[in-house]
Amino acid sequence: MNVLRFQDLIAQGKAAGQRVFIRADLNVPLDDAGKITEDTRIRASIPCIEMALQAGAAVMVTSHLGRPTEGEFKPEDSLAPVAKRLGELMGREVPVVANWIDGVDVRPGQFVLLENCRVNKGEKKNSEELAKKMAALCDIFVHDAFGTAHRAEASTYGIAQFAKIACAGPLLAAEIDAITKALANPKRPLVAIVAGSKVSTKLTILQSLAKNVDQLIVGGGIANTFMLAAGLQIGKSLAEADLIADAKAVIEAMKARGAAVPIPVDVVTAKTFAADAIATVKAATEVEADDMILDIGPKSAAQLATQLKAAGTIVWNGQVGVFEFDAFAHGTETIARAIANSQAFSIAGGGDTLAAIAKYGIERDVGYISTGGGAFLEVLEGKTLPAFEILQRRAQG
Ligand code: 3PG
Repeated sequence: MNVLRFQDLIAQGKAAGQRVFIRADLNVPLDDAGKITEDTRIRASIPCIEMALQAGAAVMVTSHLGRPTEGEFKPEDSLAPVAKRLGELMGREVPVVANWIDGVDVRPGQFVLLENCRVNKGEKKNSEELAKKMAALCDIFVHDAFGTAHRAEASTYGIAQFAKIACAGPLLAAEIDAITKALANPKRPLVAIVAGSKVSTKLTILQSLAKNVDQLIVGGGIANTFMLAAGLQIGKSLAEADLIADAKAVIEAMKARGAAVPIPVDVVTAKTFAADAIATVKAATEVEADDMILDIGPKSAAQLATQLKAAGTIVWNGQVGVFEFDAFAHGTETIARAIANSQAFSIAGGGDTLAAIAKYGIERDVGYISTGGGAFLEVLEGKTLPAFEILQRRAQG
């Protein structure tokens, strides 16, 4: 993907003394007391800020936090907790500037955090007037917010249209590179794992990947619907009977390309959905009417692990069982460890997936862990993200 990269501008000495506006995704989860519960996105945003500061730029950074009402700033919308955490991690004071649209006082070597950009009127609808005002604040606009790359808002899209220079920051560039390596130029076999409770929420992903991948491993409630499509009984397991035809179509599309959707040969069932429910391993053909499938069985997990070890590229989204309950976590753990041990380039994304990676401590063994939730899913759907589209257009001059 041909986009201008901030690193390249810096290497050419083009950032020194310039006003640099960085759109980061600092949208982190907060508890009821306003305390940050998970700071990955903040940590991931720091290299771009440090890079700009070291290059001698005057640095402005903004992000959205939550989904506030435009024009109605409330204390809970403030980026103050983010500024505090950034300050701790960077070892410096991070001032938060409110009402910044009409001008920001910042000098080379300084860094200010511009208050929640989603309280500005016109942000969500990508108002041209607002985007032009933002663009006028800077010499260089840096898009480093992969988590928001699927949104076309004033601070993500409009500003990129109107800024003198618009480029990708190091986080966005790393995401672009990993996505390209995994989906555009994959080393084969390309294996995707798409798991989750409902086919309906991931149908477009399944349909899109069915055109590209060599193995499409389905898990969770999605696998149950595929088991129904394959003619198996699933008892009272979670499934969507109205999507059986779509599941069949995905299986057929894969078959037509000489690719496959592996259907579990064994499963782990319970009579109730509870952490202390008795887990029973049985053949996929022996599921009883009052059974709930809560995980794949050890034979299925071992087969998938063999395929993952032989893969050239792995794309991972979702857990194959109810991994929050230890008795039903073995399938997800086997898959996680197989990915970690595989020589394949792997890319993982989506909330549940990151929780599984953290639970099994395999962060260092996954090729790339995406910071995007919705954005990562839209990539898997085969969509061109607005951020990629506008930055490519700007790179063409
Ligand atoms: C996310 O958390 O997925 C991103 O920050 C985007 O947030 P949004 O869904 O509110 O646009």
